[in-house]
Amino acid sequence: MDAQALASEAKAAIAAASSLEELDAVRVRYLGRKSELKQALRQVRDAESGRVLNALREQLEGLVEERENELRRAELDRSLAEDVVDVTLPGRAQPRGHYHLITQIRREVEDVFVGLGYRVVDGDEVEDTWHLFDALNMPPGHVTRSPLHTLFLNGDIVLRTETSPSQIRVMEAQDPPVYIVSLGRTYRRDTADATHSPLFHQVEGLAVDKGITLADLKGTLLHLAQALFGAEREVRFMTDFFPFTEPSLGTAVSCFLCEGVGCAVCKHTGWIEMGGSGLVDPNVLRNVGYDPEEVSGFAFGLGLERIAMLRHGIPDIRMFWENDLRFLRQF
Ligand code: DAH
Repeated sequence: MDAQALASEAKAAIAAASSLEELDAVRVRYLGRKSELKQALRQVRDAESGRVLNALREQLEGLVEERENELRRAELDRSLAEDVVDVTLPGRAQPRGHYHLITQIRREVEDVFVGLGYRVVDGDEVEDTWHLFDALNMPPGHVTRSPLHTLFLNGDIVLRTETSPSQIRVMEAQDPPVYIVSLGRTYRRDTADATHSPLFHQVEGLAVDKGITLADLKGTLLHLAQALFGAEREVRFMTDFFPFTEPSLGTAVSCFLCEGVGCAVCKHTGWIEMGGSGLVDPNVLRNVGYDPEEVSGFAFGLGLERIAMLRHGIPDIRMFWENDLRFLRQF
């Protein structure tokens, strides 16, 4: 073995190793158990060549260690420079959605009535003419039963024009007392414009018990109006007509914009119309097998879009459906 040649070859290889893996391979090649040097050491017979080879081994081991330290330092410098985490950088925000305004109002109204001990029931958007019309005291000739007003699906199957059939379904299914609200979609054969939409939402309320009077209705609607429009609100009744209530009443809430002085929103009357209501017609109670001599009830129906439009000054009902995020994100 030419110790001189081996020494210079190994030194060059150690210096050229550019990573710890490469250096390890060099170490195995020149200093490993099967390396030329180790084999030569094993075969040494005289003290002189033993000293020379051992000196060479020590020198190479020292060079490997030195190179290893160099490479480790370089690796540390690199990772300190490159893998820096800047904890002062702003985080990446996750875009977060929220409920549509109509859903928000629906939930607000539900909360108000759950707080009063009412049950929230789901009605069906597809109804039959008994529950939508007959049971609600609307005889066959009633104008709403015309296909010009109502979307008939098939024979006596219709898209409900109001949430009122929920009243009938609940009363058919249980005995009094009844305290329910039912909220959801309703359909009418209307052409969309600023105040009409063939699809909109209503809340229906019904209370049937012994001795229910108009005072109970008024107190309940006052509570709702104050929850939706502010604690200062008042409500008033006007005579109206619905086939399923007797007497029937229109409900108005004192204008929350002008405090009753008169403005464009309340059309300078100081009052804003909220919806229909009344005492449940004895015929309706009889239609579901209740005894109008035993129990009485009140009912009301309001449009959720109308509540939203009034409260937030939204000028056009079509905005709820256009899915313009610049509009929807405001609520
Ligand atoms: N269903 C009526 C409508 O769509 C609203 C209504 C009026 C509901 C009076 C009622 C009520 O329950 O008693 O215009």
